[in-house]
Amino acid sequence: MGEIADLFRILGFSRAIRMKQRYDEAQPFVRGYVATNALWALMSCGLADRMIEQETVDVEEFAKEKSLDRHVLTSLLDYLDGISLVRFEAGQVRLAQRGRHFIEETRGLFELTYAYEPLFTNLNDLLAGRKKYGPDVARRIEYVGRGSGMLCRDLPYPVMADIIARHKCRRVLDLGCGDLAFLFFLCEKVADLTGIGIDLDPKMVAYARDVLARSPLASRLRVEEADLRNLGTQAAGGGPEVDCVTAVDTFHEYLWNGTAEIVAALAKLRQQFPQALFVIGEFCNQPHEALRKRPTAFLEHHLFHDLTNQRIGEADLWRQLFREAGFQIVEERVFNLVGHGYFALKSP
Ligand SMILES: C[S@@+](CC[C@H](N)C(=O)[O-])C[C@H]1O[C@@H](n2cnc3c(N)ncnc32)[C@H](O)[C@@H]1O
Repeated sequence: MGEIADLFRILGFSRAIRMKQRYDEAQPFVRGYVATNALWALMSCGLADRMIEQETVDVEEFAKEKSLDRHVLTSLLDYLDGISLVRFEAGQVRLAQRGRHFIEETRGLFELTYAYEPLFTNLNDLLAGRKKYGPDVARRIEYVGRGSGMLCRDLPYPVMADIIARHKCRRVLDLGCGDLAFLFFLCEKVADLTGIGIDLDPKMVAYARDVLARSPLASRLRVEEADLRNLGTQAAGGGPEVDCVTAVDTFHEYLWNGTAEIVAALAKLRQQFPQALFVIGEFCNQPHEALRKRPTAFLEHHLFHDLTNQRIGEADLWRQLFREAGFQIVEERVFNLVGHGYFALKSP
C-alpha cells in the first residue's frame, strides 16, 4: 500500500488532511524565525557581502579566512539551500534569486529587526519583570541606524530630498543622523550640498565617523555627538549658514513621556535657525483596525517601539506639536500605506 494511503488508514482521512493543513499554517512562522537567524549569521560573518561581491564563494576557504566553525557554517548553508535562499553545491555557495533580493533590496528590514533582537532573546525576563528595557536590555544602536538608513532610502529620503531640492537648500543639519544615510543620499542627489549630522549616541557617532572616513563624500559632511534638545553652536555648524534642518524618525523617541519635551526642543531649534526650512519625517500611527485588515511591516515596527518605550504619534499629533512650537506647515505628505509622514516647516 502506498505511504499516503497507509497514513489515511492509520489516522483517518479527514484527521490526516487537517493535520497537514495545521502544520502548513504554522511552518512559515517557525521558518521565518530560523531563516532570519541564519541570514543574520551570514550577514555578520561577511559571507552575505562576499556572495554579492564575487557571486560564488568557496566555503572551505571562507571558513578558514574568517576562523569559522565549518560544521556550523555548512549546516546553515544546507538549510538555506533547502529553502532556496542560497545554492550550496560541491563546496561552493552563491545566492539564489530570493536570497539576493533579501540581501540587496530588503536588507534594512533584517538589520532593523536585528537591532531589536535583544528584546526577543530577553522576552521571558521582560515579561516576568525580572529585567527592564534600558538598565538591563538595550537595542543595538548601530543596527538601528543602519537598518533605518537602508529602509528610508526607499521612500522617506526620496520624498524629503524632493522637498529640499525644490526649496534649493544647500547646507543641511540632520538631527539624529544615525549612520548619516540621509546626508549621503542628499549629497548624491544635489551636487553642491554639504551637511552636518548630529546624534546623541556615542556608539552611533563612532560608527558614522568610521563610515564617513571611507566615503568619497567625506569632504562634504561632518558628524558630531550632540543632543538636539540642547544644541551648541559648534555642533550646529556655526548657526546661521544652515538653511535646512532635517530629522528622520528621531522626534518620536521622546513621545513616551508626553509632548512637552519635543515642543520645547522644536521651539528652541526654531529660534536658533529662524530662516531655515525644517523638513521632518516621522512615523504616523494608523488605527489598529486598519492594521488588522492589512497587517503591514508597521506591526513589527510598532512592537519594537512599544517594547522600547517609544510612542508613535498620529499625523494630527505631529501637526499640533509643530504649531505649538511656533511653526507654519508649508507642505506635507502623509502616506498611510506605510505609516509615514513628511512635513516642511517654516518660522512665520
Ligand atoms: C530611528 S534612528 C533614525 C536614524 C536616522 N535619522 C535615519 O534616517 O536612519 C533615531 C536616531 O536619533 C538619535 N537620537 C535620539 N535622541 C536624540 C537626541 N536628543 N539628539 C540627537 N540624536 C538623538 C538616536 O541615537 C538614533 O540614532
